[in-house]
Amino acid sequence: MIFDTHAHYDDEAFEGDREELLSGLQENGIEAAVNVSASMEGVERTLELIRKWPCLYGAVGVHPNETGELNEEKISRLKEASREPKVVAVGEIGLDYYWDQPEREVQKRWFIRQLELAREVKLPVIIHSRDAAKDTLDIMKEQKAGEIGGVIHCFSYGTEMAREYLNMGFFIGIGGVLTFRNGKKLKEVAAFVPMDRIVLETDCPYLSPVPNRGKRNSSLNLPYVVAELARIREISEEEVIQITSQNARRLYRLREQ
Ligand code: NI
Repeated sequence: MIFDTHAHYDDEAFEGDREELLSGLQENGIEAAVNVSASMEGVERTLELIRKWPCLYGAVGVHPNETGELNEEKISRLKEASREPKVVAVGEIGLDYYWDQPEREVQKRWFIRQLELAREVKLPVIIHSRDAAKDTLDIMKEQKAGEIGGVIHCFSYGTEMAREYLNMGFFIGIGGVLTFRNGKKLKEVAAFVPMDRIVLETDCPYLSPVPNRGKRNSSLNLPYVVAELARIREISEEEVIQITSQNARRLYRLREQ
């Protein structure tokens, strides 16, 4: 079954039908999803969700654009939250110079601090990096992120950058953008990265694949991404599902099923 390595089911976009959607995931071929938090509030909502839903795991961390709210007290709370059962990663953390706020020095400082946290609690990281390729890579090299491990989520750079992260042992997260007509760069990356390093993700409610582009996304749309990846790699959809699910379990250090 399909493993969604990155979802935001705590988002208000799911306010009306969250129960219905989550209770139907497995019968619709989605074995599990990782709910990724983006803010301290999101951390608390994520913990509530993973306690309630067997099909959900959680990641705790603060998105670069929300790092203005961080202080050491909140890092302590993150540390505590990271020890909850079913929390499988620290994320999403990183740098975002597209939404260029708070100022870059603040983003960098808390990116580094959350990498340190992940190292301390021995969890992999979920990296968000947008229009910040060089700084992200520099920091990850300085911090020896290869020893921490994790995934570059919603990968948006080219094959050269992919090679750097593969060399560090990271997984590459691929989602709806793969199906976009203007997704040529990602299609190249998807052909380049070894199959055993690709994981599927939605980033829902965002980034719905074609033919549902522009609508609210959910894990139920992942078969469209599977189909496109199968086409690019010239393997069956079944193989794509099997390999990427195994990868997801390796990434998040879950037992094989
Ligand atoms: Ni996300």
